[in-house]
Amino acid sequence: MLVSQSACAKLILLGEHAVVYGFPALAIPFSSLRVRASVEPDFTSAPGTLTITPPEKEAQRLKNPEAVTDLIKKACEMTLRTLNLSQAPTCVVRVRSEIPFASGLGSSAAVSVAVARALSAFLGHPLPVEEVNAVAFQTEQITHGSPSGIDNTVIAYEQPIFFQKTQTPMGVHPGKAFTFLVADSGVQKSTMETVSRLAQRRTDSPQEVEPVLTQIGSLAQPGLQALEEGDEARLGSLMNQNQALLASLGLSCEALDRLIEAALSAGAIGAKLTGGGQGGHMLALVPESAVSPVKSALKDAGSPHVYVTTLKPAEG
Ligand code: PMV
Repeated sequence: MLVSQSACAKLILLGEHAVVYGFPALAIPFSSLRVRASVEPDFTSAPGTLTITPPEKEAQRLKNPEAVTDLIKKACEMTLRTLNLSQAPTCVVRVRSEIPFASGLGSSAAVSVAVARALSAFLGHPLPVEEVNAVAFQTEQITHGSPSGIDNTVIAYEQPIFFQKTQTPMGVHPGKAFTFLVADSGVQKSTMETVSRLAQRRTDSPQEVEPVLTQIGSLAQPGLQALEEGDEARLGSLMNQNQALLASLGLSCEALDRLIEAALSAGAIGAKLTGGGQGGHMLALVPESAVSPVKSALKDAGSPHVYVTTLKPAEG
């Protein structure tokens, strides 16, 4: 029987990169963009043959398209290991993604989460969320090097979170609805590359990089408060500070700068890159009245895809 499961994309509101060095960060699920994984029995292949069908079109846009098949394979291996199974089932694992790869939206963690959910359910032992999260983190460690764990956590739980490495992630309860526009810069960038470049820069010039990481790390706590109090102006200002700090570390790029400037000029309260940077997506906090002008401004500034997403207030 065919089993199908999905996982969402994510947005980092504050704190990317600094989160790798143990500072706190804030992230939210981006539920309308998803990866879907399906698993079905294969009656024609030899026993123990697990066949992977990656999202061809999306993978072809990458410099290294085989990386997607490797990622799915690793997620399958980690899932089987978690279930204490030494032999793979005879099946086909098919992955389809609406989340663009290498674009700051957590595509690789979403693939791992969707695969762990679908394969474990196919085997009759659907993994609980903590174990799905652990499988995705282990897979990220193999495919990405030194992930902070924020992507797999926000995607596995599909909840807004305040995240700090080695601490239990904390759920965030927004005090009101916040609307964000998310725009593609059209530039693909591997997160492994931006993270390792920053690591090199930190080794070469610690006195330059450390204080900036500390300043980025100091934004998440007031950001949490702003979200929970429904303070749009404060959150927007923190996002702008975060962008200036990330740009000073060389993590922005011309295309992102152009989109950020366009969003702010058209009425966004705050705007910044989201995820690994040097390409990928930007994120703008926008009052309801400015959604349409900011969307047009982002398209006019050259973004090939602009999305709208609303973070709903906590119930009760
Ligand atoms: O580019 P993405 O979606 O993989 O996000 C990366 C976020 C970083 O903070 C740059 C890395 C990490 O592991 O937290």
